[in-house]
Amino acid sequence: MSVIAKCPAKCASDAFCRIQVFGPTPLEGEISIQGSKNAVLPMMAAALLHKGVTVLTNVPVIQDVACMVDILEWLGCRCCHKGDCLVIDARQIKSTRVPKEYVAAMRCSIVVLGALLGRMGEASSGYPGGCLIGARPIDLHLEVLKSLGACVKEEDGWLEARAAEAGGLRGAEIHLSYPSVGATEQAILASVLAKEVTVIHGAAMEPEIDQLCRFLNNMGAVICGMGTEHLMVQGVDSLHDSSFQVEGDRIVAGTYGAAVAAARGHIVLKGVRPSQLRIPLTMLERAGARVRREEEGRTIEVTMGKAPWALDLKTGPYPAFPTDLQSPFMAFLAAGQGVSHIEEKVFEGRFATAGALRQMGARITIEGQRATIQGTRPLRGAQVAASDLRGGAALAVAALAAEGETVIGECRHIRRGYEDICRDLSALGARIKWMGEDS
Ligand code: EPZ
Repeated sequence: MSVIAKCPAKCASDAFCRIQVFGPTPLEGEISIQGSKNAVLPMMAAALLHKGVTVLTNVPVIQDVACMVDILEWLGCRCCHKGDCLVIDARQIKSTRVPKEYVAAMRCSIVVLGALLGRMGEASSGYPGGCLIGARPIDLHLEVLKSLGACVKEEDGWLEARAAEAGGLRGAEIHLSYPSVGATEQAILASVLAKEVTVIHGAAMEPEIDQLCRFLNNMGAVICGMGTEHLMVQGVDSLHDSSFQVEGDRIVAGTYGAAVAAARGHIVLKGVRPSQLRIPLTMLERAGARVRREEEGRTIEVTMGKAPWALDLKTGPYPAFPTDLQSPFMAFLAAGQGVSHIEEKVFEGRFATAGALRQMGARITIEGQRATIQGTRPLRGAQVAASDLRGGAALAVAALAAEGETVIGECRHIRRGYEDICRDLSALGARIKWMGEDS
């Protein structure tokens, strides 16, 4: 039984789909950061591998988690999400077919294939959805599953996968041509219960991969090489009941770091390891912010007293600058001084937010995968619309540095990954709220 709102397709109500911001307002305060969306989603899929109970804590209350709960419950699991605790009982699996409407709602649903194949020897689903930030093919996912001994059929937008051998999947040596986060997760989930050993060369090294491996080892899996591009998975026969605490969301923390760079002020973010944001925090300092880091205390303090200086950024696989912070950083640079350049090297369609930022007076030119931003202060409030999850958060960042009222529409995108961006930013002193809230 999931106690939180259903998939984005059933967004709670229109009142939650628009945000009103008045700016400019400096930020001041301390907040705790929610659990990581991109860490918890593959862990939830991984729970399918265990014929028992898995408990996750520090789970964010976001639409994508609600969607993954719907998928797990459709497959036969019993889920209970109360507060930040999620209990998944996967003793009974009654289907291996994931309905199209659930898979279409978010990208991460694709890794359910690997987990179902690993547990049941077969799986089928529609093609994954998610943010419109590029073509987002799944060729690497399918190559991984075939390497592990699955027969994969693609017909009319439907994927059917089945282990070729009656005994299930068999370990293999996998060479990823690109360190795809999702394809790395797919390989890990499909190999945990496979026979023999799987070695994944060219694996993604994002912190979320490290967390997934630690979570699975805590369930009885045998995975080593974490933090490197070579992962080794020794297949096991079964896993056991476990509980695991999800780390704080580094991208949410980085978004709020961009917010104070735009609005100025002083904020303290709790619950995220600074080491997971090494490059973004260095970039904030290069833009003129003062950053204090406490690794063991999972604390990041950012102070900004002036208009941000220009930066040159290039996104890439971890540990490079994360593509998920490209739009929020573009937003604060648009309200800065000097000329900045951003190269987006991960998703070909991730400059969509530049259009809405221009409506707020930003001076941004795009040539292919390269954006040039001429800092302009102040931006002006406007009626804008979010086009994707991080782009929507970037509009809130820009609105904090804009003069007057900004109304952001299509905020269901934001609710997929941010528990409550209005709650968080207003706790830091911003004049921001969901439209329709009692004033
Ligand atoms: C994950 O997406 C994250 N999503 C994304 O966060 C994040 O931006 C991305 O990794 C990169 O860090 C989740 O974890 C749920 P990829 P994923 O596979 O797995 C190409 C957010 O805002 N590719 O590493 O889809 C792909 O087109 C979201 O929270 C193939 O060509 O990312 C892209 O150009 C957005 N074939 C590049 O690799 C494939 O089979 C990186 O994609 C798979 C990927």
